[in-house]
Amino acid sequence: MEKITSLAKRRGFVFQSSEIYGGQNGAWDYGPLGVELKNRIANAWWKEMTQLHDNIVGLDAAILMHPRTWEASGHVENFTDPLVDCKKCKTRFRADMISEENLAEKKCPDCGGELTDTRKFNLMFKTNIGPTEDTASVIYLRPETAQGIYVNYKNIVQSNRMKIPFGIAQIGKAFRNEIVTKNFIFRTCEFEQMEMQYFVKPGTDEETFNEWRKQRWSYYEKLGVKMDHLRWHQHGPDELAHYAKDAYDIQYLFPMGWRELEGVHNRAGYDLGRHSQFSGKDMQYIDQDNNNERYIPYIIETSAGLTRNVLMILCDAYDEEQVASDKNSDSSEGTANGTADDWRTVLRFHPNLAPVTVAILPLMKKDGLAELAQDIRAELKEDYATDYDQAGAIGRRYRRQDEAGTPFCVTVDYQSKEDGTVTLRFRDSMEQVRVPKTELAARLKQEIKTYKRIK
Ligand code: GAP
Repeated sequence: MEKITSLAKRRGFVFQSSEIYGGQNGAWDYGPLGVELKNRIANAWWKEMTQLHDNIVGLDAAILMHPRTWEASGHVENFTDPLVDCKKCKTRFRADMISEENLAEKKCPDCGGELTDTRKFNLMFKTNIGPTEDTASVIYLRPETAQGIYVNYKNIVQSNRMKIPFGIAQIGKAFRNEIVTKNFIFRTCEFEQMEMQYFVKPGTDEETFNEWRKQRWSYYEKLGVKMDHLRWHQHGPDELAHYAKDAYDIQYLFPMGWRELEGVHNRAGYDLGRHSQFSGKDMQYIDQDNNNERYIPYIIETSAGLTRNVLMILCDAYDEEQVASDKNSDSSEGTANGTADDWRTVLRFHPNLAPVTVAILPLMKKDGLAELAQDIRAELKEDYATDYDQAGAIGRRYRRQDEAGTPFCVTVDYQSKEDGTVTLRFRDSMEQVRVPKTELAARLKQEIKTYKRIK
């Protein structure tokens, strides 16, 4: 994880928030490469959930919601972590994350000092809205995006004539006052979620739940993730959230071990039932195709962390390998210090997720090669995210693109001026082929379509 964190900073994927002031715990900034990666992951999910499903529509609800929302959702009462503090070193721990012995003996795992009794700590960020700071003005930052969907479910049924079963998808920020925020962007106070709520007739929920488990598993397969790094974990009775009838996590094998990546939850009638009770509004669905039968829909939820997916994709793509280089060729992988063998760090992103798809590199700045390379970039940039680099030895430039996860490099050399061909270099295999520049765009399209990770 240290290597990934340092690469992420060095190459502009992720920076610590407010670093010049010593950093803000639990918050991170996405740099030029990071924001591209995050957007591509979000777009892949959005396409999968909306474009590829005729009965799922999108929503972008506000972060600030009426405070009654969170009473109805059960978050005011139940969204808590058990906390203990050390009276001596003042460190705060999640009680479920320290050993049973330490907890029973009330002994601090860090300094041996005395621990306080366990108390409940609500994870919602609370603030005030308007000019006064009294209880009437209390408002929360949403701890999950799901509730924005539930309170809009009737609007969407009416405005878009949705018929059950149907889904509503949303990507957005969520906030939790997490006590433990280690492991880079894994668990943070400000993060993004990609959630889809699927509304079904009670009684069909279990079948739909299993169907969505299958779909979410194949989504990661399609994304090209190492499938032996994924597994299912079913929540036991002690782990189930207050709203859940059944829940499975998709876990990923992160550097610190198996951890939750996404949850698939059967929330049954809990949410709409509670909103109906707290708002006094009728949340029943009227089935016009079935004698106007009325019922409160059950909900199957798929809930993935977008920022956690960024970390997963970074970990999944990260590789180091020893490569042999050929010092004699102009466009070789040779290193500046001229050693025959070399280590490279490479991010093996799927081309659809890579922040830069193709980098254009003139072998020399002079003799019109830079201009020719710029022309090629101008032609490609309409369809592909491009980068241009003319600084330093070509081998070093390839390494820089490997570290950024760029799947293709195009090198423009003297031969290009003569016969109009360029070198297309593949990140994963480091193979190089000559391609007429007029065929580059089509060749890239084909390579992306048929991409298979080799390692
Ligand atoms: N609406 C259901 C819900 O929010 P959750 O299991 O609490 O369920 C869903 O969260 C997903 O959101 C998790 O699987 C994880 O990917 C992401 N997530 C939750 N808390 C997070 C945090 N503090 N930092 C980053 N991602 C988080």
